[in-house]
Amino acid sequence: SGVWAVVPAAGVGRRFGGDRPKQYLEVQGKPLLVHALDALLRHPRVAGAVVALAESDGLWPGWTERQGKPVVRCVGGGERADSVLAALRALSGKASDQTLVLVHDAARPNLALDDLDRLIRTADAHPDGAILAAPVRDTLKRSDADARILGTEPREALWRALTPQAFRRGALTHALEAARQAGIVPTDEAMAMERMGLRPCLVEGRDDNIKVTTPSDRALVEFLLADPAL
Ligand code: C5P
Repeated sequence: SGVWAVVPAAGVGRRFGGDRPKQYLEVQGKPLLVHALDALLRHPRVAGAVVALAESDGLWPGWTERQGKPVVRCVGGGERADSVLAALRALSGKASDQTLVLVHDAARPNLALDDLDRLIRTADAHPDGAILAAPVRDTLKRSDADARILGTEPREALWRALTPQAFRRGALTHALEAARQAGIVPTDEAMAMERMGLRPCLVEGRDDNIKVTTPSDRALVEFLLADPAL
């Protein structure tokens, strides 16, 4: 059955896009947001996408369709979680409470089809959903306020949360609303689900599913996206 992609792209930070918010930074001649959308829509199970945009967005190309699939736009909110909630509401009428939604950062242009496929299959089988994640590779230090080492954290059980993150639409809406009520701002969707006592699965994904944050990230994805074989 159909899965919907949800792409929060309502950030207004121009920190390193210069003249434009990060989601419109161009890599290989295409904005990060469009790379992200295209990577989601190419999976046959994905029925369409909802994009949450800033009210002031003047750069969205105005598509209502891409790759022959519907693209719905909505106005995002002040925090990422508000933007995701707005997108989930925009899906009422198109998707049921049980519909699987894939929340994916607009700033992650290098999502592999194989990772997306394993994520969807795992989430299909688990009522609490699943997220892409990567095992931590470096040794982790805990510090005090003066950047002196307090100790070394065992890394065997630690993962970096990536996106997409896949949940049932109804359960995710409920969890994000509850977090908002409690005054908590979750930094990913799984965090809101965890608060509800739910246990989403970790699906090991590729390390190169980078969230573009620094100039070197940009250089790296420019390189990765230049060669489809990478
Ligand atoms: O800033 P950061 O890289 O963590 O943003 C992650 C994603 O959340 C980006 O795609 C950004 O556009 C989106 N976002 C949003 N609404 C906000 C803040 C961020 O959709 N209010």
